[in-house]
Amino acid sequence: MTKVALITGAARGIGLATASRFLADGWRVAMLDVLGDILAAAVAGLDRPDDTLALVADVSDPAAVQAAVRRAHARFGRIDALVNNAGIAVFKPMLDVTLEEWQRVLSVNLTGPFLMTQAVAPIMRDQGAGAIVNITSISGLRASTLRVAYGTSKAALAHLTRQQAAELGEYGIRVNAVAPGPVDTAMAKAVHTREIRADYHDHIPLNRYGLERELAEAIFFLCSEKAAYITGHELAVDGGFYASGVGLPTLRKERRNT
Ligand SMILES: NC(=O)c1ccc[n+]([C@@H]2O[C@H](COP(=O)([O-])OP(=O)(O)OC[C@H]3O[C@@H](n4cnc5c(N)ncnc54)[C@H](O)[C@@H]3O)[C@@H](O)[C@H]2O)c1
Repeated sequence: MTKVALITGAARGIGLATASRFLADGWRVAMLDVLGDILAAAVAGLDRPDDTLALVADVSDPAAVQAAVRRAHARFGRIDALVNNAGIAVFKPMLDVTLEEWQRVLSVNLTGPFLMTQAVAPIMRDQGAGAIVNITSISGLRASTLRVAYGTSKAALAHLTRQQAAELGEYGIRVNAVAPGPVDTAMAKAVHTREIRADYHDHIPLNRYGLERELAEAIFFLCSEKAAYITGHELAVDGGFYASGVGLPTLRKERRNT
């Protein structure tokens, strides 16, 4: 039996790298994104027409989500893994964030995974098994400036992960989260200024951004049989950002001087 993954936000970045990782292991992959042209190019670039399906939909639109999940199920006959990766970021001082920006970030980053999971979980329940991974962020683990909407949406998604794990375990469905540290994707290029990049280096023991494929490995692991007893967990893939506090710039300066 060939396994099937549905990945949102799969047109580029971490989502596209994750699609490649599943395909490399022999899975079939339904790739959902709101950017139809970029998605079509990504799917064409993978050059696996029998094993891929492009789904153009907005994860915050309930009717579009239901229709996309129906199409994926009709094409592949099952869904073994759901990766709720689609997300958007607005980085702005808290007092400047508009209500519209706040609501859009919450709709995509939090309501999207809620709707996708409601649409996919009944299919997994009927199969008796499934794995869901929600892509959160280190910005939901530790508060930082400029991320009032983004960080709050990701912290809420981490809790949604635990809520989903608590209820869906009965059906053999595991639900986990991966919290990426900074990764140099289109999103990061749009919101990470030179100062933000320097700040990250000052707080990351491994002293670099993560790679898309490093995130994809962690996501794939949590969807695989190797993670069969892991549910309700949030895994930071962040070069040590979450684990560490103050002191790194001083340590590095002292080492440079010895
Ligand atoms: N890059 C980072 O530094 C970083 C850090 C922490 C968390 N993340 C998270 O990782 C995930 C992937 O981000 P990325 O860095 O690859 O960004 P990206 O912008 O390259 O990719 C995100 C994809 O999601 C799609 N998308 C956005 N809104 C959508 C919607 N409403 N419906 C369907 N698709 C939609 C976009 O079109 C895009 O293809 C996001 O959830 C993001 O918050 C990224």
